[in-house]
Amino acid sequence: MSFTLTDHLGPVDAGAALRADVRAGLTATPKTLPPTWFYDARGSELFDEITRLPEYYPTRAERAVLTEHADEIAVLSGADTLVELGSGTSEKTRLLLHSLQTAGTLRRFVPFDVDPSVLRQAGAALAEEFPDLAVDAAVGDFTVHLGKLPRDGVRLVAFLGSTIGNLEPGPRAAFLAEVGSVLDPGDWFLLGTDLVKDTDRLVAAYDDAAGVTAAFNQNVLTVVNRELDADADLAAFEHVARWDAENSWIEMLLRSTRDQVVHVDALDLDVPFAAGEDLRTEVSTKFRVEQVVAELAAAGLRAAETWTDPDGDFAVTLATP
Ligand code: AVJ
Repeated sequence: MSFTLTDHLGPVDAGAALRADVRAGLTATPKTLPPTWFYDARGSELFDEITRLPEYYPTRAERAVLTEHADEIAVLSGADTLVELGSGTSEKTRLLLHSLQTAGTLRRFVPFDVDPSVLRQAGAALAEEFPDLAVDAAVGDFTVHLGKLPRDGVRLVAFLGSTIGNLEPGPRAAFLAEVGSVLDPGDWFLLGTDLVKDTDRLVAAYDDAAGVTAAFNQNVLTVVNRELDADADLAAFEHVARWDAENSWIEMLLRSTRDQVVHVDALDLDVPFAAGEDLRTEVSTKFRVEQVVAELAAAGLRAAETWTDPDGDFAVTLATP
């Protein structure tokens, strides 16, 4: 059993990236913040809670696909190294780890996430659960640090949970191209994508009755307040989730309930909000399978197989260069 953690981000880098993102996002029109900054220790916990909400179907749907097909994925890939981008608690990934272990090929697991606290917790638990596995966790931003992934062995890079939906089309194409160029023939990419469905179900998944998603959304303000000495009043920003049919995405907004100015001391920045003005904190794109296959192909990745859950809510695609 072994566990290592490599930090590609570091406090200096992470601080600089947060400052740059907050300055750019809060001085833009309309105002935006990247979803990366939801995930401090509290944000990771809240997201974990979201995955168990009755309204949040994606986690259950993806788990259903993996429960049914993990063995097939393991045998098709023959991977000795499983890399998971945006791994969080790696809850569903255990299914893949078990199947790869049964197939007899697994040596190493590389969970990759922006939040070191979730990596330490999940990594230590996994190292205990899989005694023969080298768990080499990495802290980083998957849109920046893909070049740091291990280069040897037969690699299966998993990007689950439809986290790819957080990327808008341009950055998404760039990210997929990077994955395509980092992988060698014989390596594999496993991509989870949430599919377009009834608008009411989509909106409910991002605006749950218990208010967990609202707390998750507002947590980005807690992070900015703490890390950048800002004074945003969480009670003056209302959680909004809405479906944008044209872009095929759910967007999460923080809507200012009044005219107000947020002071960000570390940036020496005053950010004025009008009553009703929106700060966009996340887009969560919903896909069609043909589109996923086409986007992979554009990145030099051939979709070998796509599986969906019985309700057709969620797709998992296995692709290779
Ligand atoms: C982790 C990015 C896949 O977009 O559904 C959940 C994050 N945001 N509820 C998603 C999220 C609000 C989630 N991803």
